[in-house]
Amino acid sequence: MPRKPRPPANDILAIDFGTSNSTVGCPTPSGPVLLEVEGEHVTIPSAIFFNVEDECLQFGRDAIEAYTHHYEGRLLRALKSVLGSALIDEATPVGGNWIAFKDIIGLFIRHLKATAEGKLGRGVDAVVLGRPVRFVDNDDRRDRTAQDQLEAIARQCGFKQVDFQYEPIAAALDYESGVAAEELALIADLGGGTSDISIVRVSPARHLQADRKADVLANAGVHIGGTDYDKKLSLHQVMPHLGYKTCQRQHPTRELPSSVYFDLATWHRIALLNGNSAATFLRDMHHMAAQPELVHRLLRVVREQTGHQLAGDVEKVKIALSDRALARLELPYVDDDLAIELSRSAFETATADETQQIADCMRECLQQAGVGPAAITTLFLTGGTSAIPAVRAACRATVPQARVVEGDRFGSVGLGLTIHAGVRAGG
Ligand SMILES: Nc1ncnc2c1ncn2[C@@H]1O[C@H](COP(=O)(O)OP(=O)(O)OP(=O)(O)O)[C@@H](O)[C@H]1O
Ligand SMILES: [Mg+2]
Repeated sequence: MPRKPRPPANDILAIDFGTSNSTVGCPTPSGPVLLEVEGEHVTIPSAIFFNVEDECLQFGRDAIEAYTHHYEGRLLRALKSVLGSALIDEATPVGGNWIAFKDIIGLFIRHLKATAEGKLGRGVDAVVLGRPVRFVDNDDRRDRTAQDQLEAIARQCGFKQVDFQYEPIAAALDYESGVAAEELALIADLGGGTSDISIVRVSPARHLQADRKADVLANAGVHIGGTDYDKKLSLHQVMPHLGYKTCQRQHPTRELPSSVYFDLATWHRIALLNGNSAATFLRDMHHMAAQPELVHRLLRVVREQTGHQLAGDVEKVKIALSDRALARLELPYVDDDLAIELSRSAFETATADETQQIADCMRECLQQAGVGPAAITTLFLTGGTSAIPAVRAACRATVPQARVVEGDRFGSVGLGLTIHAGVRAGG
């Protein structure tokens, strides 16, 4: 029987829509390639800025820069975290209009698609999207709904064929492209929103085979990622300087309401503080406060819309603490001369619970696979959060005999998805 002609290899895209960063890959005859999606960068921050002043949309670094330079408008980040949550169907005010979160994700995916098509010089209507092992913890129905929501968004953006692959399986495929012999690898993709673990028998002989089910021993995931580390650092070390956990003037044993502080410390909820109801609530808090000078700082951040700047500065300090024991957080836009010294040990204490949950997830994956830690040959680490020393130590302690291999922290999943897309497309 004559073989069906294969479609050109680049008839399909592979999108790693990450909580913090995204990539778009394309299989080519010479191998998987990540496309330049912002200038010369193959990664783009998952950020969108509605520039009200210039009446335009900006994406990625460009979006963050416009926000940082105080263009009038709205910045949204970490939108992947909204999938599977009640927020997905809610709308948020942008300029004079309200726009639904799912439509904002659509604008971002549409931008990735258009940019990739511009690079390739042709339209592409098939896509493999990465997905975390768990979009939503402990709720299979909502987890499934999250994937369905992402699929519906991708279809609305013009993709006609939409497939999904687990992000850690993608990372395993990337790792596998360089191995010389069969190994049992524990793959840990520790990203901005989720930590995803797979135990995979990697094998050069079976690398490009379409059906690898028998080689995937187990997958496990938990909705803990770098944005949770940012949040904890912020709540423990920064928000108290804005009145978090301080008391009410008339009820000295009662703390001020904490919801605003949680929103301000949570990347995908910062935008919710812009409405009128938040402004009224904050004025009331200011009146209630035993230390109004601290709540005044909170009011200033919300009024001047510097919440993302604050979250970004906390994130920068978190990243600095991966290499140093101490870092200084300067916040002149919160209050003149406000600077906070942060230590790695205080950060580790504040985030011990998150680190424990990641290690527990690794143990759960081993249990599901029915293998002991000693059976794991290699611990493959990827994703930005794998740079945190305490996280690395906890991962290593789970499989102490395994050799540790580092992936391209921000490119492994995207490259692996592209390998998978190439196999699917038959290229
Ligand atoms: N050197 C570092 N030390 C600590 N954290 C880091 C470092 N570099 C990046 N990060 C964190 O890694 C996270 C982003 O990682 P990554 O790009 O792998 O996530 P993502 O793929 O967008 O998210 P996800 O896969 O969970 O949807 C951010 O929270 C960022 O702050
Ligand atoms: Mg990722």
